[in-house]
Amino acid sequence: MTTFEPGFLWGAATSSYQIEGAVTEDGRGPSIWDTFCATPGKVDGGDTGAVAADHYHRYPEDVAIMRELGLGAYRFSVAWPRIQPLGSGAVDQRGLDFYSRLVDTLLDNGIQPWPTLYHWDLPQPLEDAGGWPERDTALRFAEYAQIVHEALADRVTHWTTLNEPWCSAFLGYATGRHAPGRQDPDASIRAAHHLLLGHGLAARAMSDARVGVTLNLTHVTAGSNTADDLDAARRIDGMQNRLFLDPVLLAEYPDDVRRDLEHVTGFDHVQDDDLKTIAAPIDFLGVNYYSPMLVGHGTTPSPSAYVGSEHVRHLDGGRRRTSIGWEIDASGLLDLLLRLDRDYPAIPLYITENGAAFDDEVHDADRVAYLDGHVRACAEAVSRGVALKGYFAWSLLDNFEWSFGYAQRFGLVHVDYDTQRRTPKDSARWYADVIARGGL
Ligand code: FCB
Repeated sequence: MTTFEPGFLWGAATSSYQIEGAVTEDGRGPSIWDTFCATPGKVDGGDTGAVAADHYHRYPEDVAIMRELGLGAYRFSVAWPRIQPLGSGAVDQRGLDFYSRLVDTLLDNGIQPWPTLYHWDLPQPLEDAGGWPERDTALRFAEYAQIVHEALADRVTHWTTLNEPWCSAFLGYATGRHAPGRQDPDASIRAAHHLLLGHGLAARAMSDARVGVTLNLTHVTAGSNTADDLDAARRIDGMQNRLFLDPVLLAEYPDDVRRDLEHVTGFDHVQDDDLKTIAAPIDFLGVNYYSPMLVGHGTTPSPSAYVGSEHVRHLDGGRRRTSIGWEIDASGLLDLLLRLDRDYPAIPLYITENGAAFDDEVHDADRVAYLDGHVRACAEAVSRGVALKGYFAWSLLDNFEWSFGYAQRFGLVHVDYDTQRRTPKDSARWYADVIARGGL
């Protein structure tokens, strides 16, 4: 039997736009995802988050399910447009009250609330003013973070500033696959910097709490040992991992990545003390891992998310894939955790997302196998001394999977979108058993 320390935190994760619905209720303002979904051709099937899993109304039932599973913590995100419908200035108390009720319900059920302050639903007025490529958005984010922190700090101990700033910057502003759907390489680099700056300012403003940031990291390998392929792997590791890890944990941008980006941006948007701010002390690093990456020299379809490295090609590793097309490889998670421990020692880690999309409904043997393999990789990492403190499965519920709409299901719990009926899948029962036993 593989067991974890008794204090190891077992949780599940969701995000506001993917599950809440109620997009015009209680004063919520529009977010960039409302606008993006309303733009023809952006989201498969023309799906939107307008109703989603109706969690805004059904949260008591959802918390009851979490309790049944025995979750120690629930990672959710706060929708900025519910708190400040215009993205700055006036606060809508009804938005704060919703999250306050959610937090109380969680605590009443013995579940730790783990809010993330930004999981991609930027208030539309801030995008209209230029969005994340503008420095002002970082300042507005810090202000909003402080508002939410003040309202909930008496009950919430662990805060996450951003979810996956890589996606916000490069899918939002380089490929346009995510809201706001822009295709402007220089703007995407600026966006990455201002997301990081927003993180640092918010972390500083909440320094009395335990604060972290969640990054989508992966293990990158080269297709061969040729100099070109090795350089491709260096570049993608740089853009996917180190562009975010180094500023936050080492207070610097990696030199090689700066050089790779020289022909895209002059870095004139980086001001003197920014890196000091971005490296504000944090208490944990959230790691989202789904799939490894194998790359080589070649061409990517344009526009590429890997700005400045458009001549890198993504290779097929020959492994099984989930229904969303992501290769399954739990050893990539182990390699990633060992690498984080080696290159960025001393920062406690939490897996804040890991999971799989499959078409199966309630009997989801494929998802069980995926989760089992990845939890085993976590156990192996812990046994080799990695400071991994918890694991959150993505996702508690089937939900709105961004540009894929509702077609991709990641939930431990099945949602029938016609009736909003929740049915725990086999994976939910498997997870409850892991939690009850403290291991596999
Ligand atoms: C991550 C996102 C999360 C979800 C999973 C499948 O990139 O953070 O919202 O969509 O992928």
